[in-house]
Amino acid sequence: MRAVQVTDNIWWVGAIDWSLRDFHGFETPQGTTYNAYLVIGESGIALVDTTKAPFVSEMLARVETVVPLDKVTHIIVNHVEPDHNGGLPEVMAAMPQAKVLASAAGVKGVADYHNGLVVEAVKAGEPLDLGGRTLEFLPLPMVHWPDSMFTYCPEAATLMPNDAFGQHVSSDERFADEYGVDEVLREAGVYYANILLPLGTAVGKAITKVVETGWKLDIVAPSHGLIWRGGDFGRVLDAYQRWGAGEKRDKALVVFTTMWGSTEAIARRVADAIGAEGVEVAVYDLAVTPIAHVTHEMLDSKAVVFGSPTLHHGMLYRMAGYLQYLWGLKPTDRIAAIFGSYGWSKGAEKQMRAQLEEIGFELPLEDFLVKYRPTDEDLAAAEAWGRQIAEAVKAR
Ligand code: FEO
Repeated sequence: MRAVQVTDNIWWVGAIDWSLRDFHGFETPQGTTYNAYLVIGESGIALVDTTKAPFVSEMLARVETVVPLDKVTHIIVNHVEPDHNGGLPEVMAAMPQAKVLASAAGVKGVADYHNGLVVEAVKAGEPLDLGGRTLEFLPLPMVHWPDSMFTYCPEAATLMPNDAFGQHVSSDERFADEYGVDEVLREAGVYYANILLPLGTAVGKAITKVVETGWKLDIVAPSHGLIWRGGDFGRVLDAYQRWGAGEKRDKALVVFTTMWGSTEAIARRVADAIGAEGVEVAVYDLAVTPIAHVTHEMLDSKAVVFGSPTLHHGMLYRMAGYLQYLWGLKPTDRIAAIFGSYGWSKGAEKQMRAQLEEIGFELPLEDFLVKYRPTDEDLAAAEAWGRQIAEAVKAR
């Protein structure tokens, strides 16, 4: 196990979760990392963040390649979600002399999660002096939980913002420029869409606060994935500002699930008509497409067209599951439309409409339904319906 130097007196000592394929319900085909950082001053050494519990020994082994464990004077808890805080008691046991600091909400979160474990609150406006290295703390609720906090080292112009600007990527490289900035930016988008989308207002406020601090940001070292350095951070910051502002393109997604192919046949015709009208379109079968990918594609789409056949008077479970997923993410300010097929009973469309309205989609079109198999006339009607969707997108 080795540590990686981030900059003078700051080391990456995290853990690599090469095998993670599911992060609270969405796919992570590239795994992730739980990043932790060692900041070394002349009179103190701070460990910023810890790891998911099963990875503590890996993290401690990396720390020991830089400093003895008993020399660490502070542990900073930026966020109490278990992927960063789950291993805290074990880390505290390995570093018994270290004082543990968190935001005020983090103090409560640590106690609630760890059976009354007591840690101290950072003091607003009071930096932690480590001797030649200082840590400043900026509590930023809901980026990602109420306890979330950014930690900044001014001497190294390094920000450790925990979840913000992260990506679920496991890699032997530590920096975005080593891995490929374009690919890391794409993964940052997947991460934003599937985790931070419903928190866009809080994230936007956080970015404003960070800008107001005037902090120089040569390095931005999140708690997942690759570290941004140099001008690369400007690219992800710009992307966060666009996502937070809800910028979209003339783009529609057709998202469906099918039993015997009728709903799929409609999906293809509708998509073809949308594309023919000059609106970018993509088709996703929920049976074979990772929901993390579909949701990422939704980030800059003005419309989403949902299709399900009726089974037992309702929608197929894959559509129900995906709509429940979106219910949490709240991708509002978008058009939705509903299509599907049925046999002796309709019903899927009613359930879908109720759920889509509750999520906050706008539903300006009549549902498009076909009995059993679409005829040539039905498919021509599907094309006409698709053109209406394209017009609604272009008019928006
Ligand atoms: Fe990476 Fe909100 O935890």
